This record gives sequence, structure tokens and C-alpha cells, in this order.
Amino acid sequence: MLVAITRRLSPSIGQCELTHVEKQAIDVERADQQHRRYEMELVTAGCGIDRLPAEASLPDSVFVEDTAVVLDELAVMTRPGARSRRGEIKSVAAILGAYRKLSYIEAPGTLDGGDVLRVGRRLFVGSGHRSNEEGVAQLRRLLKPQGYDVVSVRATNCLHLKSAATCLGSTALLINPDWTHPSQFDGCEPIEIDAAEPGAANALAVGDRIILAAAYPRTRAMLEKRGYLVSAVDISELAKAEGAVTCCSLVFERQP
Ligand code: GLY
Repeated sequence: MLVAITRRLSPSIGQCELTHVEKQAIDVERADQQHRRYEMELVTAGCGIDRLPAEASLPDSVFVEDTAVVLDELAVMTRPGARSRRGEIKSVAAILGAYRKLSYIEAPGTLDGGDVLRVGRRLFVGSGHRSNEEGVAQLRRLLKPQGYDVVSVRATNCLHLKSAATCLGSTALLINPDWTHPSQFDGCEPIEIDAAEPGAANALAVGDRIILAAAYPRTRAMLEKRGYLVSAVDISELAKAEGAVTCCSLVFERQP
């Protein structure tokens, strides 16, 4: 059984952090509806939803992916690079502690879950923006005993590594080669997005399907041609907050 931790959208999402996206008005009600439909896709893909209540004082808190790295053996609670997001950790730790033993990234380390791309026993971490080298080094130390390799990589012109590359299962990587160079992902099979859709590399592989933003029909068609089952979700309001499909959940196997 898969679990997806989510959090109800904050009514203050309009005050979110923005790095590569111009500020635009966000229709909170529409964003909330899009988030609920996204959760329904997760249920269709086989997830049980464990939902946190909204946090009015934490504008970005719907993007729970950034708060933790969940593995079979443990969960590492992050220390987000944006100060405004550090208050998100405590409540996610409280819920995640029921599923996994917890470890923590500590100051001066910073790490955003959106920068951590897992491919089997390897974790590629995008460093240099929200996540720093100290955060990567702490993650490496915490995961070495479990046999994980932690590899620092670069992504540019985007918020997180997973804006530029995500794993579609096994070693297949959906990638925007203009934002992160495929040669950094040794042993992976790169699948390039349609060049007209730069944000399309953020895809969520869950159960038997790939959840992809509806804004990327060309990349969707390319993936379907390769045999992937793709569910398109409209997250246009969440995208105005620089959110994408992976950011809105923490998905993992429930353990007996
Ligand atoms: N608004 C998403 C983030 O900057 O963390």
C-alpha cells in the first residue's frame, strides 16, 4: 500500500516564495480545487492520502515534498533553503514519525526535498541554490550506513533539481537537458522532454502511471508513445506559486 502525505493549500499561498516565476495573482479557491483533483489522481494510482491541515502562516506549505526525503529505512527531515519555509518541518515530522524513524538535516546545512532525485540506491542532489554542500554532506553521512550513494549535481535556470529531471521508474529519467546535463546521471537512461515545454521534466511516477501537468501535451504524447500510462492534471494555479506535480506530495510504501 502506498501512502501520500499532502497538506491542504494555505490561504496565504499568494505570499509564496518565487525565484524563476513572475508574480501573478493566484485564485486560491481554484488552486485548492486543482489540489483536490491532484489528490484524487494519487488515490487512483493506489495511494491512501494522509492529509495535514492548512497552515495559514506558511504560504508554501502545500509543497510538502521539500520537507523530507523518505526512504524505506528512514526519513530525513530537511532544512529548507528558504527561511520562510522552515516552519513547515515540525508538523510533517509529527505525521511522518508514525511511518519512519526520523533523522534531521541541521544548520548550517540546507536541503529541499525537491532537490533530491532518487534512482535506486543513488540519490542525486541539486546543490547551489536552495540546497547547499553542507546539506548534501549531511545527507551522505546519514544514508551511508543504509548503502545509499549521494551525488551532488547541478541544475540551472530552475528552482529545484526535480524541475529539471525526474525518475520514471528503474533508471529512466525524464530530463530537460538545458537545465541539467544528462552526463551527470551516470547509469541512467535519459528521455528528453519536448523542447517546447521546458517545465515538463517534473513528473510523478506513482503506481502504474506517470502524473504530469496538463500544460505539457507534447511531452505527454511522447511518453504515451513509449508505452507509459500518463494522467494529466491541471495545476495551473499551483504553477503560479512555482509548484509542480512532485512538490505536492510525499509518496512512499507503508510498511507492515
Ligand atoms: N514557491 C515554491 C518555493 O519557492 O519553494
